[in-house]
Amino acid sequence: MFRLDLLAAKRILITGGGTGLGKGMAARFLELGATVYVCGRREEVLKQTTSELASNGPIHALACDVRNLDAVESMIDKIWKDGRLDILVNNAAGNFIARTEDLSPRAFESVIGIVLMGTLHCTMACGRRWLKSGHRGTVLSISATYAPVGSAFVVPSAVSKAGVEALTRSLAVEWGNRGIRMNAIAPGPIPTQGAFSRVVPLPQLETAALDRNPLHRFGTIEELANLAAFLVSDGSGYINGEVIRMDGGEFLQGAGEFSNLGRILKEEDWQALKPRKRSS
Ligand code: HXC
Ligand code: NAP
Repeated sequence: MFRLDLLAAKRILITGGGTGLGKGMAARFLELGATVYVCGRREEVLKQTTSELASNGPIHALACDVRNLDAVESMIDKIWKDGRLDILVNNAAGNFIARTEDLSPRAFESVIGIVLMGTLHCTMACGRRWLKSGHRGTVLSISATYAPVGSAFVVPSAVSKAGVEALTRSLAVEWGNRGIRMNAIAPGPIPTQGAFSRVVPLPQLETAALDRNPLHRFGTIEELANLAAFLVSDGSGYINGEVIRMDGGEFLQGAGEFSNLGRILKEEDWQALKPRKRSS
């Protein structure tokens, strides 16, 4: 899909890059010539990922909890000592389904801390350095399709992803004239162990998710990684402040008043609804 030097000489940090979509993006960015840094809380997971992907290109791991501002600053300092980053991918997240009335304050804090504060910490740490040196940087954040409308049963995540999208659009304008580009991807369901064990934990939920998707399938990590590669590359330089939805049309399926008729009405119903020929 891309020239193999698309991301040559680009230095990229992917938060939560040890697993799932983050790992998939790391693999793709390496194939396209980038130097990749991945961070996460679990050192052994990061080690496993870097040893798996080392043959694809230069990859480095740093253990860091993005909720902790000091830890983020020290990670970014360490990276900058090797050379400045060009691209930040805010991918780390926490989420689970629960009835909102059952959530403790710590449950809210935990998810908001990772998704919203973690994204803010990393974006500010890179953004300030880029602005100071006049370097052109790009930030890509991974959101979710429910961010603009909210969603029952994942309220801490919905609140946080809405904040991430507001941050993306706000800084696209505030920092755009100084060479910093801000975009986001809102993926529909893509099977990863981390996400599906927490938000699609029962077979009936998986069936329901497939049923409401016009393509009747989930997205793939490769599809997400390709879109991410395009959005962080210089070829998409005029795209700024956008949230690109990648969900096979699931969001629109849910929004259209009559879109579910395809599942409710059968062939005989459609035949019966056809206008009768007038007899002259
Ligand atoms: C209610 C829960 C809970 C649950 C945790 N908590 N899980 N409450 N229902 N299922 C509560 C705990 O009881 C605790 O509160 C508080 O949350 C913090 O939990 P800890 O386990 O101590 O926190 P921590 O170890 O920091 O773990 C954070 C986490 C965990 C978010 C809870 O799930 C995690 O590490 N997630 C990282 C990966 C992840 O979530 N990936 C999925 C991303 S998918 P108390 O008060 O008891 O101390 C995604 C989009 C999916 O974002 C969209 C699909 C279409
Ligand atoms: P995942 O594998 O669980 O990825 C989450 C990553 O974030 C993990 O590597 C985790 O590593 C890291 N992380 C969590 N808390 C952290 C913290 N405090 N500091 C640093 N790293 C932390 O799930 P995924 O499906 O790949 O999700 C990736 C992104 O896609 C998330 O932003 C998610 O919201 C978004 N998304 C996913 C889907 C989907 O269907 N898969 C759909 C929509 C949006 P550690 O636990 O080791 O820290």
